[in-house]
Amino acid sequence: MQKLSEVYRGKAKTVYATENPDFLVLEFRNDTSALDGKRIEQFYRKGIINNQFNHFIMLKLEEAGISTQLEHLLSENELLVKKLDMFPLESVIRNRAAGSLAKRLALQEGLLLDSPIYELFLKNDSLHDPMITASYCETFGWASTAHLVKMKELSYKVNDVLSPLFDAADLILVDFKLEFGLFKGEIILGDEFSPDGCRIWDKTTLNKLDKDRFRQNLGGLIGAYEEVAKRIGVPLNQ
Ligand code: TMP
Repeated sequence: MQKLSEVYRGKAKTVYATENPDFLVLEFRNDTSALDGKRIEQFYRKGIINNQFNHFIMLKLEEAGISTQLEHLLSENELLVKKLDMFPLESVIRNRAAGSLAKRLALQEGLLLDSPIYELFLKNDSLHDPMITASYCETFGWASTAHLVKMKELSYKVNDVLSPLFDAADLILVDFKLEFGLFKGEIILGDEFSPDGCRIWDKTTLNKLDKDRFRQNLGGLIGAYEEVAKRIGVPLNQ
């Protein structure tokens, strides 16, 4: 499908229109951001790795009966997707304490959460993506109760599919962020699933193999992404 004009430039992906209004092209760039987009650096091959990583994960979710915006790969860094009407929300599932949860409640990083936590954030960089509740969504019209129930249910279902997938590769899926939208009235998983939007640790060494390497200046970002991709079986074009 023909890629037409740019409709949106995000922090790591550019979205293009196509001749069909129901479809978009996602272009995965090498840009990597932190601090709500105030810090951006380029990493060679990151766009290619994340596109193929995301494609692999979305296929696994589709196989498990979770509807995603995935259509098909267009090139090594481009993906054809359904055009969703996105909720301005980020759904986060946490299997272990890390990041903002560990900070907010002064928890030991890595603490196992027997019952995984579901959190909602408003997608708004200038407000630093504040944590919100379902009640906020209803009051401010960001999503209906029925849609929120479905997003939460789907988020847990994604966890049920992906946690064992990473576990089988001797990796811990610590937490992850999802974004949903509507396509012809149905809630569909959108955006991407890549090491940019989740935390993945080595099961034995607890080494961080995700974007925390960039956030915390640990180095070796691309090597870590490639290691995870290789272990879970993402077919990476070299
Ligand atoms: P947090 O610990 O910073 O709240 O992040 C939880 C998880 O969600 C972590 O895997 C990073 C991911 N995340 C994003 O990818 N983008 C975001 O804007 C936010 C708030 C979280």
